[in-house]
Amino acid sequence: MRIIQCHSTQEAVQTVADLTLERLLSRPSSVIGLATGRTMEGVYAAWTKRALGEGIDHSSCFFFMLDEYLGLPDGHRCSFKSYIQERLLRPLSLREDQIAFPPVHGTSHADSAKHYEISIQESGGVDLQLLGIGQNGHIGFNEPGSAGNSRTRVVELTESTINANKSEFGEEKMPTQALSMGIGTILEAKNLLMLATGKSKAEVIKYLLNHHDDPNCPATFLKSHPHFTLVLDPDAGSKINLNI
Ligand code: GLP
Repeated sequence: MRIIQCHSTQEAVQTVADLTLERLLSRPSSVIGLATGRTMEGVYAAWTKRALGEGIDHSSCFFFMLDEYLGLPDGHRCSFKSYIQERLLRPLSLREDQIAFPPVHGTSHADSAKHYEISIQESGGVDLQLLGIGQNGHIGFNEPGSAGNSRTRVVELTESTINANKSEFGEEKMPTQALSMGIGTILEAKNLLMLATGKSKAEVIKYLLNHHDDPNCPATFLKSHPHFTLVLDPDAGSKINLNI
């Protein structure tokens, strides 16, 4: 596990954007796994700004979304599909055939989940998976209790996750289920790049660094991955002491 401690939130988001773009520059046909959440908003802003400024070609890469809420109509403003369309696809004029979304509108979620796994495998696998982390240690929507070998499936959101995200929905009721890549699915990506920013993540980052393969904090399963990079801003890293 490699930890990059940054001097500011801006430096942290720029670091994640630059590592992603460097991968795309060296291997333009890379397959990138995309994450959502407030933390990642700055990454997409930095990514699109640099890519447009430098005219970085994205025409041969492919993207998989990590997760999606269940029960929202297609095009809902709070869906992760809308999130990424607004922040990455439209600014970079990416084609619709360059991205796959967890298929949440089918009749059988179990079949849809299997199909998504097959699509990932047929693409050659994810080269770089971007990740945030929930305050309870969730990755994607793999909540505490998720197995380290879990695959794409329907997941129930915990109260902690609902409380952390419900303000996005305003007066509307937030979904309580999602379709998420599993921890086993995420671990098959060749490289994992996680970003944590803000004081609200300091405690979970401390826990992550002190525990291994702990289902109470699903992110701890990532520590066995040979290419796992964690990027922190000063607040998220404020409760750890790496003595380096
Ligand atoms: C979200 C997503 C995760 C994200 C996490 C943290 O709901 N499913 O992929 O990492 O929760 O979100 P935030 O960055 O808003 O704290």
